Amino acid sequence: MLEGQTIVLGVTGSIAAYKSAELVRLLVKEGARVKVVMTPEARQFITPLTLSTLSRHPVYTEVATDDEWHNHVMLGREADLLLIAPATAHTLAKMATGLCDNLLLATYLSATCPVMAAPAMDEDMWWHPATRDALNKLQSFGVDVLEVDHGDLASGLQGWGRMLEPQQIVQSILERWIKPTQLLKNKKVLVTAGPTREPIDPVRYISNHSSGKMGFALAKVFAWMGAQVHLIAGPTPVPPPQHPRIRLTRIETAAQLQQACEAIFPEMDITVMAAAVADYRPQQIASQKIKKQDSHLELQLEKTTDILAELGKRKQPHQWLVGFALESRHDASLAREKMQQKNLDMIVLNSLDDAGAGFSGDTNKISIFDRFGHEMHYPLKHKHGVAHDIIQALLSIMHPA
Ligand code: CTP
Repeated sequence: MLEGQTIVLGVTGSIAAYKSAELVRLLVKEGARVKVVMTPEARQFITPLTLSTLSRHPVYTEVATDDEWHNHVMLGREADLLLIAPATAHTLAKMATGLCDNLLLATYLSATCPVMAAPAMDEDMWWHPATRDALNKLQSFGVDVLEVDHGDLASGLQGWGRMLEPQQIVQSILERWIKPTQLLKNKKVLVTAGPTREPIDPVRYISNHSSGKMGFALAKVFAWMGAQVHLIAGPTPVPPPQHPRIRLTRIETAAQLQQACEAIFPEMDITVMAAAVADYRPQQIASQKIKKQDSHLELQLEKTTDILAELGKRKQPHQWLVGFALESRHDASLAREKMQQKNLDMIVLNSLDDAGAGFSGDTNKISIFDRFGHEMHYPLKHKHGVAHDIIQALLSIMHPA
């Protein structure tokens, strides 16, 4: 399953590092090219010789030695996946704050591939608010943080904090990244994100609170999975994702978004409309700044085109179209109705009633409905995790088992 894949395995200073030998062996057995980067502390738990013998590659620890410099940028760029296992509380905290005092952290900061971390630590460290904060932050960056196991810990205590078994880690890599990547490689994907701005006069506009984060997370996860992504984004203060496979187009108004979408839609395999498009715009745009005069000012608004519905009309049988619905209550029938009316394959519903859900924060809580009658409900997650769920759900209807 891992033939042709390059996996950079980061090993940090935890007693669970002894499992890295088995992990390398399983990854190599699946066909992966494994390059191991160890932190200096990890070398106290397992020898580089063990890991270089099993991976059949030299093991890297230092950014530079007397006669060699290791190109961490290229390590992170050539990899199909950066897996950090075991990931200690210390390394996770440094990753969350951008510290960069060893080769593994430098590789992480310059990686353009998905990053997966398998934490390992004692239970008290696992539940400490500092570790929780670090994990939350890493998830908001898109790091795929695996669960930990419950059981005997190195301290002699029992509890949460054991690293998953190597077999489970390999299974997660296959399920969460490798299979989707094989299905999405070179697929053309259009993702829209952020709000639109509808001008009233040269200095004012009508808009909404969309941050673009959901669409940006979708674009990033699609790109990580090998798709060619066209990201069309409205104005938001959040920086859009940078990736060699993401092409960004900026728009301001719903009309510009419509034009940009319609121009490329025929070539797309998958389209996900995550943008919060204005439903109405001022009928007339004043050419001069409107001066204040009377106690009331009336603006005449006209309806914008429902871009998603328009794309739904043009959709060909090989194309997949996904829309969003933001409702003030959780209403499955409304979502289903919208999916049908707009000729969608899938609709993602988020309810304004759910704490932590919606379009300006880092998290979202969604339900997914598809045209084959499936209905899925998910817990509150960081938007990258939500993006992952949306893509997995779409792939499951594109390629039913
Ligand atoms: N959408 C669109 N063009 C518009 C309005 C919305 O393409 N002019 C798309 C959004 O990108 C999103 C979905 O339609 O995928 C969201 O629709 P929703 O917010 O639920 O609004 P409407 O369907 O317009 O219905 P209403 O506002 O009445 O709830």
